[in-house]
Amino acid sequence: MFEQIQRVPGDAILGLIEAFKNDTNPQKVDLGVGVYRDAAGTTPVMRAVKEAEALLLKNETTKSYIGSHGDPRYGKVILPMLLGEESPVLAANRASATQSPGGTGALRLAADFVRTQLPGRGIWVSDPTWPNHLGIFQAAGLKLGKYPYVDADNRLDFPGMLAALKEIPTGDVVVLHACCHNPSGFDLSREQWQQVLEVVQERELLPLIDFAYQGFGEGLTEDAYGARLMAESLDEVLITSSCSKNFGIYRERTGALVVIAKNQENMENVRSQVAVVARENYSNPPAHGGAIVTEILESAELAAMWREELTEMRDRINGLRRDFVDALKPHGLADKFACIGEQRGMFSYTGLSPEQVDRLRDEFGIYMVRSGRANVAGFSDENLPYLAKAFAAVN
Ligand code: LMR
Repeated sequence: MFEQIQRVPGDAILGLIEAFKNDTNPQKVDLGVGVYRDAAGTTPVMRAVKEAEALLLKNETTKSYIGSHGDPRYGKVILPMLLGEESPVLAANRASATQSPGGTGALRLAADFVRTQLPGRGIWVSDPTWPNHLGIFQAAGLKLGKYPYVDADNRLDFPGMLAALKEIPTGDVVVLHACCHNPSGFDLSREQWQQVLEVVQERELLPLIDFAYQGFGEGLTEDAYGARLMAESLDEVLITSSCSKNFGIYRERTGALVVIAKNQENMENVRSQVAVVARENYSNPPAHGGAIVTEILESAELAAMWREELTEMRDRINGLRRDFVDALKPHGLADKFACIGEQRGMFSYTGLSPEQVDRLRDEFGIYMVRSGRANVAGFSDENLPYLAKAFAAVN
């Protein structure tokens, strides 16, 4: 039977890890997969995470199952982080958190919940979006549609987005990136969130807010503006959250699906269905990452340490954005790539074509996704002049 099976190319993002490793160019630069890098180009374990792990090693008494919703303590700390300590949604007891294997696992839970409990609903993603959105939603059997997000001049296409949202069939699901849009780095302003909210209300859409980079844009609270606006203004919202980036625990697979319903009764009903899809997918989520996050957020001291480290990461990325645009000045390209200074989060849609990206790889050992997405955390004071020279050579 296996003789019939065709080989497919590897994942376009994850494949870059291997390709970069195999490149012998001493000046090579990895701007591929979305992991944070420090000035030395490494992805270190955060200090707060190490301390939490030391506590776990000492205090953990069992490795028994934690249940399909994960550890309730994790749910208790993750909800206020996403929705705000003083959230009226929490006060009304209408939000539920289900711990998941990463943000990806949360997205699959959301997709399976929609397919089984809201059959026939389409799901709409931005064009472009994180490529795995397409894979996850299609694998779950959902009908996929796209709304414009970036125009031909590599700018946020808000009028196009809004016009398309107005045409989405009533009751469909619309995926919105809470902040640090992946891949483009273009985020909505507060006024734009308000306008999106109005269309969502008019069309009676179900927002699925993908929140993978909380703290990487402007700050933990600032980045939650859109998600909180939706949660507080609407009866029903889904949020998929990831701790991969903001706690730097990528491989621990730690995320959550948050369901917000009209009231506690509806929320408990939906929650029971989410447990079914979790059980059918993987039974229980992995515990370790959630336990780390819980230790940190339950301790005022560790939480403060973590927030400080997160701020350092965010400031470093935002500084590098500005420095890269400066480094392009001598090449006459600062205006052309000014967007890199304005975008937010780990990624930048540079506007480079797939052919230009190929040249950067072949001639300079610079690795980016072929869509033109660069991971800004891969920039460093040392490699900026080299990157600027390479950008100039292919432009
Ligand atoms: C990315 O977009 O690079 C990250 O979200 C990692 C991934 O899983 O693709």
